[in-house]
Amino acid sequence: MAVDVLLGLQWGDEGKGKIVDYLAPNYDVVARFQGGPNAGHTLNIQGKRVVLRTIPSGVFHDRPCNLIGNGVVIDPVEFMKEANELESLGIDLKKKLKLSEKAHLIVPTHRSLDAASEAAKGEGKIGSTLKGIGPAYMDKTGRNGLRVGDLLSPDLKSTFERLKKKHLELLSLFNFQDNSAGLEEKWYEGVDYLRSLNIVAGEYYINDQLSKGKSILAEGAQGSMLDIDFGTYPFVTSSNTISAAACTGLGIPPTAIREVIGIIKAYCTRVGSGPFPTELIDDTGDQLRKAGHEFGAVTGRPRRCGWLDLPAVNYTIMLNGVTQLIITKADVLNVFDEVKISASYTIAENKVKTIPFNMNTSDITPAYDTFPGWNTNNLMQTGGNLPSALEKFVKFIENETKVQVSLISIGPDRDQLIQL
Ligand code: GDP
Ligand code: IMO
Ligand code: MG
Repeated sequence: MAVDVLLGLQWGDEGKGKIVDYLAPNYDVVARFQGGPNAGHTLNIQGKRVVLRTIPSGVFHDRPCNLIGNGVVIDPVEFMKEANELESLGIDLKKKLKLSEKAHLIVPTHRSLDAASEAAKGEGKIGSTLKGIGPAYMDKTGRNGLRVGDLLSPDLKSTFERLKKKHLELLSLFNFQDNSAGLEEKWYEGVDYLRSLNIVAGEYYINDQLSKGKSILAEGAQGSMLDIDFGTYPFVTSSNTISAAACTGLGIPPTAIREVIGIIKAYCTRVGSGPFPTELIDDTGDQLRKAGHEFGAVTGRPRRCGWLDLPAVNYTIMLNGVTQLIITKADVLNVFDEVKISASYTIAENKVKTIPFNMNTSDITPAYDTFPGWNTNNLMQTGGNLPSALEKFVKFIENETKVQVSLISIGPDRDQLIQL
């Protein structure tokens, strides 16, 4: 069997969690391969809203085992909060979850460094979730990081102290008042909890599963427009978020990848700073935010909203090798008489369909195609036939992207889906 990769093609929050939860029973393993608790993947489980941060979105089903791969960064404090909530819902993580020994750890001073770096940037701040993700990946590439496997070493305390000392020196250069010491006790509690879980050589585990013919769903976090190399740099996250990262973040060969499932919202959102050509800073944007409940799952921040941006989607389809598209939140557009899609930009009087090096929103004018709204609250009752207005919208996307849409999500619940 093979690995299917599922990821977001925009700026995150495309509805990955809901779709992974829906697809999970078809797989033997669901594996997260990058990011950390900056992610917030929302699942609706029997009317209860659960937000997963580091734990894969397959945990609510019997069949798949769930793996946190080496490409993920784990904060023991945040992890234990998330795990406690899941255990209170009856999920036995000792059975359902494996952790790669090579995943890196976020320590409390990483969070201070994130805050110090953002404060130093002033107006140019990224709008980070301040979970310490960037500093943790910097220590990984700087070859200073602490890994899950190190939790089993008797030297843990001294390694932790050495790393903390380095961080405190950096924080003093920022003139930043560190108050992370209060988190240390919780960090060590989280560490004890992590030690009680199933820590494995993730790369051997997953390749063994592949050789036994098992099927794997690799769950991406963030979105491709937040990728460290190809996103709207510097307003990006600190990991590669594209399909290639499933290989490095799990230890699987590229030849193991079968389908690449790309998720897009029927419109666009972004949380934090950075370019967003189709952003609507007007009543329509407010209406989208209200209808789509567009507030961050992690930080509660209002998400910036705008129309669907196909130059960005086509860029990320190319980078990821997307083989099928899933459109989410089609129901949110019910409130509009007319909806729009941008399939090209005008930059310096030229029509372009590609993403420029400097994606300054002020230099880019999106060109729009306008479609009639579908104006129905009964999307589920159409017996698999889409209302003709929604069908036109979907066909336009398929024509412009040359990729077929396999599913349309029309509500936050697991079964609110139309299969095409
Ligand atoms: P993720 O980070 O990609 O998993 O997405 P988030 O969970 O951050 O944000 C998606 C939000 O939209 C969550 O609140 C979901 O419950 C919700 N959602 C997902 N799919 C749909 C849909 O088709 N319609 C509506 N109305 N809400 C959806
Ligand atoms: P999911 O997996 C949306 C954004 C932050 C900020 C930038 C850098 O739920 O789709 P970081 O904390 O990584 O240093 O922040 O990236 N960001 C996300 N936006 N969804 C996410 O994850 C995000 N994870 C990070 O808002 O602009
Ligand atoms: Mg999210």
